[in-house]
This record gives sequence, structure tokens and C-alpha cells, in this order.
Amino acid sequence: MADPVIRIVDLWKDYGGDGTEAPALRGTHVEIGKGEIVALFGKSGSGKSTLFNLIAGLDRPTKGRIEVEGQDLQDLGERGRTQLRRMKLGFVFQFFNLLPTLTAFENVFLSLELANKFLPEVALHALKEVGLEGKEHRFPHELSGGEQQRVAIARAIVKRPSIILADEPTGNLDTTTGDHILDLLTRRCREAATTLIMATHAPLTCRYANRILRMMDGLIVEENSCEEVTR
Ligand SMILES: Nc1ncnc2c1ncn2[C@@H]1O[C@H](COP(=O)(O)OP(=O)(O)O)[C@@H](O)[C@H]1O
Ligand SMILES: [Mg+2]
Repeated sequence: MADPVIRIVDLWKDYGGDGTEAPALRGTHVEIGKGEIVALFGKSGSGKSTLFNLIAGLDRPTKGRIEVEGQDLQDLGERGRTQLRRMKLGFVFQFFNLLPTLTAFENVFLSLELANKFLPEVALHALKEVGLEGKEHRFPHELSGGEQQRVAIARAIVKRPSIILADEPTGNLDTTTGDHILDLLTRRCREAATTLIMATHAPLTCRYANRILRMMDGLIVEENSCEEVTR
């Protein structure tokens, strides 16, 4: 693949522990191109969140290499990885992870501030894009789960990241709400040519992805069709 956005080479992660557990990642390889919408399936404990933490530079691999837009995370150093996270990566989580003492607007604006963009109108526009016009000044506890996830999507897309990592983004939502969230998230990413990786159990996710990967025993394998993951 020419100039992948993410290149993962022989990636290992062993948390150590008492030595009885197999490493979480066992020499996995993958390349992901600009604008790809990827569904990453895998049983609980198969290493999906571990992979995301490593791509985000929040944890270090035991062995192997991760490149984001051609830059080796190891070479970037701690400060470089923090900058990369703030400027280029967006995150969406199962439990939304909004700051409870900040309003919807403040949660989104903070993400912009950390990327050195002090533009309140851009934050308001992002909230409008996810259908939350009129609810900008509510606190997370004054919003439904689906609405909180919309705030999280606004917070991720507002800084125009090159990559969004979504870890079980519908894991805490009912099917209908989850469907709307997947539609919104994937539509926004397509429009902005943002690369999206969704770690998931939900077969529904398959329909929104243009590439399907599966995590098995700490390795990533390519799947050719939705049927294989949903049967
Ligand atoms: N911080 C940690 N310390 C020790 N072991 C961990 C840690 N995080 C994950 N693991 C282990 O690594 C494996 C993969 O976990 P995880 O990446 O969370 O999988 P998934 O997100 O697919 O459910 C599991 O066996 C889990 O127990
Ligand atoms: Mg996980």
C-alpha cells in the first residue's frame, strides 16, 4: 500500500503478569490507508483496546513498530506522541468519556483548545452537525446515552483529525441508537476523508465499513465479507 496512514509492523504486547497469559499482541501486521472505514471484530480480551492504546501512543509495545502518517511513534518521543494525539487523533469510547463537569460545548471546545485552535464557533458548528443544536449548554448527565455519544463524535471530528479510533462506540447503546451513531460517525468520516477504525462486537458495524479485520489470538486477519463475521 502506498503511504498508509497507519503501518503496523510485527507488533507485540506482553503485559507480563505472572507469565501464564499469552501476550495480548503476538507479532501483528497491518496497513491502513487514508479514508478507510475499518471494522475490527474480535472477542473480548482479543487485544483490540491494547492495539488502540499503542496506536494512540498511550502505551508502548514490547516489540515492533507503529507509524502514523509515516512517523515512527518511537522516534517521536513522549512530547511528540502527545502532540500527535492532540492534533491528529480523535477518540470515541464505549462509555463516552465526557468530562462530567463541562457542558457539551465545553467538552468539544476543550478538544479544539488542546489542538491550539481557539474557535468557539467551530465547536458550535460541530455540535450542530451531530444534531445537538439547542443542547450545547447541557451537562453530560442532562443528555441521553445517544446524545452523549454525539457529543463525543463532535469532540472527535471538530479538530479534523486524520484518524478516529472508536472503541466499541455502540457498546452501551440500544440497537436503534447504535445504528444512528454508526451512520453519523461513518458519514462524517467519509465526508472528511478521515480514517476510521471501529473496534466492535456488533455485527451491524459491518454494514458501515469498507474493510473488515478480525483480531484473533493477538493477530489481525483480513476478512472478505460481512457474512463471515455475522454468521
Ligand atoms: N493494563 C493491562 N494490564 C495487564 N493485562 C492487560 C491490560 N490491558 C489488557 N490486558 C490483557 O490483554 C488482553 C487483551 O485485552 P484488551 O486489549 O483489553 O482486549 P479487547 O479490547 O479486545 O477486549 C487480555 O488478556 C487482557 O486481560
Ligand atoms: Mg476493549
